[in-house]
Amino acid sequence: MNSLIKTNNLSRIYHQGSSKINAVQNINFELKEKEKIVIYGRSGSGKSTLLNLLCGIEKFSDGEIFYKNIPYKNDHKKLTKIRRENMGFVYQFHFLLNEFTAAENVSLGAMIFGTNKKDSILKAKEILDKFGLVSRLNHFPGQLSGGEKQRVAMARALINKPDVVFLDEPTGNLDNDTAKEVINFLDSSVEESNASVVVATHDSEFRSFGDKILTMDSGNFV
Ligand SMILES: Nc1ncnc2c1ncn2[C@@H]1O[C@H](COP(=O)(O)OP(=O)(O)OP(=O)(O)O)[C@@H](O)[C@H]1O
Ligand SMILES: [Mg+2]
Repeated sequence: MNSLIKTNNLSRIYHQGSSKINAVQNINFELKEKEKIVIYGRSGSGKSTLLNLLCGIEKFSDGEIFYKNIPYKNDHKKLTKIRRENMGFVYQFHFLLNEFTAAENVSLGAMIFGTNKKDSILKAKEILDKFGLVSRLNHFPGQLSGGEKQRVAMARALINKPDVVFLDEPTGNLDNDTAKEVINFLDSSVEESNASVVVATHDSEFRSFGDKILTMDSGNFV
C-alpha cells in the first residue's frame, strides 16, 4: 500500500513559563492508504497533540511530515488546503450546529468544499442513510441521542470522501453498547469509502477495529 502520511522524528514542545513540555517527541509514524491505526495511551501522553500535528492544525517544533511522500513544512496556507481537501475530523464532543438539522449539518461539510446547496443536501442524505439515520434527517442535534450525534459527526467527516479521517475520543461520551454500534457504522463506512483512519482513544472497543494498535507514553510510542 502507498504511504499517505509519514513523519520523521516529529516533535512538539510547549513552553509554559520557564518549563518545557515535550508533548510529542521524535515520532516516526506512517499511515498507509486504507490503513486503520488506533492510538492508546494514558491521559497527557500526547495523543491529541500528535493528531493535531498530523493534520496540520498544530505547528510542529522539529522533524518532518510527508503527505503522499511530499514533505510539507509548517506552511499554514498549504496545510489548510491539504486538510480541507483530504481530511475529515471527529471529536469527543460532536460540534454539530444546534440550529441546523442533521442533514444540514452534514451538508455544510460539502458546501464548504464548494458543492451547491441542493447537491450537498442530497449527498448528506445518502451518507446519513449509510449511518442508519434516514429517519433522523430533519432532527436537530438537541433531538438526537449521543450515539446518533456522533454518527452525524462521522457522516459530516466523510462526506467529501477524504483520504484520511482523524477521530479523537469519538466514543468518549457514549456507553459501551452505543460505542460498539458507532464503531460498527464507522467501520463499514470507511471500508466503503476506502478512507484511512487514525483514532486516539481510551476505548478498548477499538482494539478489533484497528489494523495496527500503537500505545503512546510521554510523547512517544512504547
Ligand atoms: N496548548 C498547550 N500548552 C501547553 N501544554 C500543552 C498544550 N496542549 C497540550 N499540552 C500538554 O502536552 C501533553 C500532551 O497533551 P495531549 O492533549 O496531547 O494528551 P492526550 O494523550 O491527548 O491526553 P487525553 O487522553 O487526556 O486527551 C500534556 O502534558 C499536556 O498538558
Ligand atoms: Mg486527548
